[in-house]
Amino acid sequence: MALRSIRKEGDEILRKRAKEVNVINDRILDLLNDMVETMYENNGVGLAAPQVGVLKRVIVVDTENGKGLYKLINPGIVHEEGEQCGTEGCLSVPGVFGEVKRPKKVIVEALNEKGEKVRVTGEGLLAVALCHEIDHLDGILFRDKVVRYVDSAEKEKRK
Ligand code: NI
Repeated sequence: MALRSIRKEGDEILRKRAKEVNVINDRILDLLNDMVETMYENNGVGLAAPQVGVLKRVIVVDTENGKGLYKLINPGIVHEEGEQCGTEGCLSVPGVFGEVKRPKKVIVEALNEKGEKVRVTGEGLLAVALCHEIDHLDGILFRDKVVRYVDSAEKEKRK
């Protein structure tokens, strides 16, 4: 495994649509493992492949500090319900935080590392992280959806 460098806002790759994965080969498996390592190293709860410069529909998410890891290939939201508004940030947009409206619950279908179809039901923070990372695959940054920016002092107070 190896750390990969994170592309920052302003890099064109973050605005492109990532391509479906057709074959799950060693390159994809290495990518997934490197993304997991890079996410943990940077204390993130999710990472999408375009953030490390790869235009493939691959995301990793863990909202439970190492206990809730998902590695998802070609993820898509098949159901969403309710609404929540929480503070988000992004490793590609350092130092910026803002409130974004998201569904309260989502069901995501994807392939796992073995190419098997999996379903992930996410509520609360997991729903937010799944939506945020899947947005990255379509060139969307959370900043595009911010309803109100939150400064770091306010963010600290809310923890
Ligand atoms: Ni992000």
